[in-house]
Amino acid sequence: MPRLLVVHHSPTPTVRALTDAVLAGARDDAIEDVEVVERAALEATADDVLAADGYLLGTTANFGYMSGALKHFFDSIFLQAGGALGDDGSAHPATGGRKPYGLWVHGRYDTTGAVRSVGSIVQALPWVQSAEVLEVLGDVSEEHTEAAYELGATIAALVSG
Ligand SMILES: Cc1cc2nc3c(=O)[nH]c(=O)nc-3n(C[C@H](O)[C@H](O)[C@H](O)COP(=O)(O)O)c2cc1C
Repeated sequence: MPRLLVVHHSPTPTVRALTDAVLAGARDDAIEDVEVVERAALEATADDVLAADGYLLGTTANFGYMSGALKHFFDSIFLQAGGALGDDGSAHPATGGRKPYGLWVHGRYDTTGAVRSVGSIVQALPWVQSAEVLEVLGDVSEEHTEAAYELGATIAALVSG
C-alpha cells in the first residue's frame, strides 16, 4: 500500500492543532489505500523516508529558520534519502524521479526564512513540492485548520495515485 510519511515538530497546542488537521485530511475516508505514518521530527529515520511514497513536513519558524528538530531530521536522512552535496558542501539540485511533498509552517511574525530553509534542502532531494506551502501566523483559526486539512488530503490523494 502506498505510504505517506508525516514528519513534524509540534511543540505547542497551537501548532498541534494544525498538525492534527493535516493528519485528519491525509486520513480522509475518500482517499483510499494510503497508509499514513506520523513521526515526530526528532524520531523519524532514513528508513521511514525510504519506505514512503510521499511526504508532509511541519515545523515552527525559529530564528528565521526551520525548527532545530526538522533540521535534525534533514541532517540525519539527507544522504540516505538521495540527497547530494557538492564539493563546497552545498546541496545539489536533485535529478530523476520525484515523490510529492507538502509543507506547513507556523510562526508568530514571519515564516519566510523557515519556508526558504526547507526549500533549499528539499530541492536537493528527489521530491517535488506538490501543494502550496501553508504558512500560518499567530492564533490558528478554523480557516487555517481547513487549509491544513486540505493540504493533508491533497498530498495523500497524490500518494494514493
Ligand atoms: C526561540 C524562538 C524563535 C522563534 N523565531 C520565530 C521566527 O523567526 N519567526 C516567527 O514567525 N516566529 C518565531 N517564533 C515563534 C514560534 O514560531 C511560535 O512560538 C511557534 O510556532 C509556536 O506557536 P505558539 O507560540 O503560538 O504556540 C519563535 C519562537 C521561539 C521560542
